[in-house]
Amino acid sequence: MDARQLKEAAAAAALTYLQPDTVIGVGTGSTANCFIDLVAAQKERYRGAVASSAASAERLARHGVRVLELNEVMDAGWDIPVYVDGADEIDPGLNLVKGGGGALTREKIVAAASRRFVCIADASKLVDRLGRFPLPLEVIPMARALVEHAARSLGGTPQVRPNFVTDNGNIVIDVAGLSITDPVMLEMRFNSVPGVVTNGLFAQRGADVALIATPDGIRTLTGRP
Ligand code: 5RP
Repeated sequence: MDARQLKEAAAAAALTYLQPDTVIGVGTGSTANCFIDLVAAQKERYRGAVASSAASAERLARHGVRVLELNEVMDAGWDIPVYVDGADEIDPGLNLVKGGGGALTREKIVAAASRRFVCIADASKLVDRLGRFPLPLEVIPMARALVEHAARSLGGTPQVRPNFVTDNGNIVIDVAGLSITDPVMLEMRFNSVPGVVTNGLFAQRGADVALIATPDGIRTLTGRP
């Protein structure tokens, strides 16, 4: 199986977590795109989708899936039972690094608004310890130097992502070389740096289920209540 087939297999496995007539939380990236394409084939089953990026919203809309704003869903008192998204790294405790596609802030918002986070990935994303993938930070542009300084003092090597602006009009700084022994603590440390909108650690609210596609089938990891 090639990488694309593994992503499709993980995305297909996530369909079994969806319930009819509900709103789906939809992530961003190539694996999430596979999921969107599968949801589109049965779009009448669902009330609609809340997207975690402009790119995903556009793909959903192109497929004729009803795209809903998070605020309208929550104001209507509707539930989002499941959020489905990929990840850049997944550890055995279902802590994640996300944001390779730069959509980390909206991803964290939609994940937080959803009851269950189902993470879909191929086996290359599974690691013993997070940190090989540089940690993305969404940063307000005028705080760039301050945040770089803070990243260095936390042991990392920051680099502004070239030619990239988030859906929220901010920059992304990727921080390489971090030793992530305590993902929850590091997530909180980066959250406390003024100018950091979001960091790509999903540990305080990690995944509830990870569906990992391997050539031998889907490995299901759980671990959170
Ligand atoms: C985007 C993300 C993606 O989920 C992550 O980068 C994984 O992407 P892909 O499925 O293309 O490997 O966090 O911000």
